[in-house]
Amino acid sequence: MSATEDPWERHATWWRETFTNGADLEYELQILPLASSQLEGAARVLDLGCGEGHLARRLARGTREREIVVGLEPSAAQLAGAVEQAGGPRYVRGVGERLPFRDGSFDGVVCCLVIEHSSDPDALLAEAVRVLAVGGRFLLLVNHPLFQGTGSGLVDDQIMGERYWRVGPYLSEDVVYEEVDPGVRLRFAHRPLSRYVNPVTALGCVLTRLEEPEPPLAFLEGSIDLELESAIPRLLLLRFERVRAEQMGQ
Ligand SMILES: C[S@@+](CC[C@H](N)C(=O)[O-])C[C@H]1O[C@@H](n2cnc3c(N)ncnc32)[C@H](O)[C@@H]1O
Repeated sequence: MSATEDPWERHATWWRETFTNGADLEYELQILPLASSQLEGAARVLDLGCGEGHLARRLARGTREREIVVGLEPSAAQLAGAVEQAGGPRYVRGVGERLPFRDGSFDGVVCCLVIEHSSDPDALLAEAVRVLAVGGRFLLLVNHPLFQGTGSGLVDDQIMGERYWRVGPYLSEDVVYEEVDPGVRLRFAHRPLSRYVNPVTALGCVLTRLEEPEPPLAFLEGSIDLELESAIPRLLLLRFERVRAEQMGQ
């Protein structure tokens, strides 16, 4: 991937200024606390696709048992931002589909809002599980595939006088390029939930927790229909535990 074609390379400053270090209420109030609480007690943690490291830094300040936090990230610009901000984690450049770690190296692996950007999710999931020790936890955080997929969103029909949440074609896997801010175009893959859960369980994990948190009220400030939007999850967290070293049948 060259620096010119990877949007995460080009938009590293935008990401840092818009989403990290307190800039984004959803991260501050929900994503960071939720992810770190689910990894309490894990000594060796990998933040797969760590961006500029704000979750990795949070995890490094974590519980007494924490020995090491490693952030892995393909974008050199994001990684440079992470290294510059220090705060405890070690950083490695690489992609989630080919992890440069031995089998069973970690007690916790977190992949936060990353898999939507991978073009080979099966390889990424297989690698995440491979580097996890038996008994370790794998946290997968995604934009909720049912409610936040392509074509989903709030519809404010002024002619019919109704507002509702439209769900797009959930079962169709597709890729969209979305302009999330002026001049910032990112690639998102939409996949149904089974596309993530079944490969991970086939790799010797069990699903131990599913969270669909209500969006933080402070984040929804200014929304045109607070009641409706607060009843629609934006985030989905899946927590798996590795129970076997070998793969199980599908
Ligand atoms: C939305 S940002 C999330 C960053 C970080 N996980 C967080 O929550 O702050 C997505 C990140 O995933 C990284 N990414 C994209 N494709 C990846 C892949 N195949 N393997 C690992 N990371 C990837 C991008 O470079 C980017 O830093």
